[in-house]
Amino acid sequence: MEYTFLGNTGEKISRIGLGAWQFSESWGLTEYEAAKRVIQEAHAQGINLIDTAEVYGRGMSEEFVGRALMELGLRDSFLVASKIPGDFLAEHDVYKAVERSLKRLQVEEIDLMQVHWPPCWHNIPTCEYMRALEKLVHMGKLRYIGLSNFPPVLIDEARYCLSTEDVVSIQVRYNLAERDAEKEILPYAEREGLTLLAWSPLAKGALTGKYTPDNLPRFQDVRSGEAVFHPENFAQVYKLVEVLAEVGSKYGKSPSQVALNWLVSSSPVVVPIPGAKSEEQVRSNAGGAGWRMSYEDWLRIEEASSRVRITRVLW
Ligand SMILES: NC(=O)c1ccc[n+]([C@@H]2O[C@H](COP(=O)([O-])OP(=O)(O)OC[C@H]3O[C@@H](n4cnc5c(N)ncnc54)[C@H](OP(=O)(O)O)[C@@H]3O)[C@@H](O)[C@H]2O)c1
Repeated sequence: MEYTFLGNTGEKISRIGLGAWQFSESWGLTEYEAAKRVIQEAHAQGINLIDTAEVYGRGMSEEFVGRALMELGLRDSFLVASKIPGDFLAEHDVYKAVERSLKRLQVEEIDLMQVHWPPCWHNIPTCEYMRALEKLVHMGKLRYIGLSNFPPVLIDEARYCLSTEDVVSIQVRYNLAERDAEKEILPYAEREGLTLLAWSPLAKGALTGKYTPDNLPRFQDVRSGEAVFHPENFAQVYKLVEVLAEVGSKYGKSPSQVALNWLVSSSPVVVPIPGAKSEEQVRSNAGGAGWRMSYEDWLRIEEASSRVRITRVLW
């Protein structure tokens, strides 16, 4: 495993993290012991960053993560990142939500608390929730503050609200089929020294090579409405997957590992957080770091990826 640092904090984090949304009905991994095995294997592979959120399984993911780290004696081996939803950002709700996360995670202090998305519906001023989060850092309940799904203009505003702390990370959708993050967010993160936590780095499984245009599973899970799996889009994505498979065959790597490696090697601040439903998947995903493809292969993927244009206007 390769390591980097979380923003400018000096905290050592693995270049590939573990996404824990999978521990929820949304993705179907609802058996605690199975989740515990995934976390144990992540540790064995050198992964030390785990990403959860209050909304994942309405607390189930946080509970599983907290319980597993406690039972496995791994609490100090992981940097645990959680998220407070954009709906809970009134000051009193921030305090209440963090109190509940602390209980579910069974910790005195949460390593990284991210604002999951900006408050869209409730007209809460940015400084109200950012100041509340900063207060929680002062009180020893949170260590670091991050943002998720914020555009640069709002990240600037959020940082302006803080006095003694700074935002250390930004989490956004970023994968080889969906590269909009490169337009504004990635340059911002690189310039400002923020870690960019890439969510859906495997395009929810579309880049793994196990789905084909003729074998698009009828997802009963969260993916049923995902644009990337719409036949119109997936036909393009699959051409990219074929290139990933060809490049991977040179290095003995799977398409998923090549897809993750491309993200890791393209920017020093990008840390993909692929979700895993089994020990095999987490083991495979850890193999997305620790090696480099040739420039020629990187460029081949860059070109194939640039040809993909996902449309979300589907009805
Ligand atoms: N901040 C946000 O708003 C936000 C939004 C979404 C996600 N996230 C975070 O990002 C994490 C990852 O994103 P994601 O869950 O959307 O998608 P993802 O990581 O792109 O894809 C995960 C899915 O791909 C399949 N998979 C994973 N590893 C594989 C492997 N090695 N081989 C074959 N298949 C594999 C699994 O599903 P199947 O086996 O069923 O195909 C898995 O559930 C989440 O867990 C969450 O922590 C954050």
